[in-house]
Amino acid sequence: MQISPSILSADFANLESELQAISNADWAHVDVMDNHFVPNLTLGLPIVEALLKVSPIPIDCHLMIEDPDRWAPPYAEAGAQSVTFHIEAVADPVRTARAIRAAGARAAFAIKPGTDFAPYVELLPEVDMVLVMTVEPGFGGQSFMADQMPKVRRVREAVRRHGGDIWIQVDGGVSARTIEQCAEAGADVFVAGSAVYGAASAADAVDDLRALAQRHRH
Ligand code: DX5
Ligand code: ZN
Repeated sequence: MQISPSILSADFANLESELQAISNADWAHVDVMDNHFVPNLTLGLPIVEALLKVSPIPIDCHLMIEDPDRWAPPYAEAGAQSVTFHIEAVADPVRTARAIRAAGARAAFAIKPGTDFAPYVELLPEVDMVLVMTVEPGFGGQSFMADQMPKVRRVREAVRRHGGDIWIQVDGGVSARTIEQCAEAGADVFVAGSAVYGAASAADAVDDLRALAQRHRH
């Protein structure tokens, strides 16, 4: 059970100290948005390179961008320990996942709420994680979509049949109120932005979320 706080809800003027504030987390989730795949613009490779120099924990890059075939491998080459591209945006998921892994990172694909998982079962051997979005990608602070839990269960079932150690991540609206149902459905990596950085203590929020997830393990 791993917690990956999203720095989308952190203070962008103080990212080094905001990373230190979550040093008890398993990952730092970095949302890269290009204003094309999603209607929002955040940050790109130069800032991820800067974060990698100071982060006390590994970086989990969530790329909400067009043409990840071209742009995703450089994040792995820069040293990001996990790189996730969107299945709706990628042209050649096998080649892109292999390029990410060849650079030494974990590879993952993300699926938006309206996208089915079934057509992508054959990609499981190529990835280390599947990200099931629990909001429409683009913004922090949105309401959790409980209707995505059946999809998490289907991914968990497919991973169980496939075997191996493939993680299932949920991202969007994950909080103390919603994390239990995600864990029960089979998720094991939990992204939380506003629930962590909006709390009085980000580190305490990380510990509390992890404890809740562990109590409701699938
Ligand atoms: C949304 C991003 C999320 C976002 C989550 O497109 O992918 O990572 O930061 O924020 P919360 O936890 O506030 O929903
Ligand atoms: Zn994200």
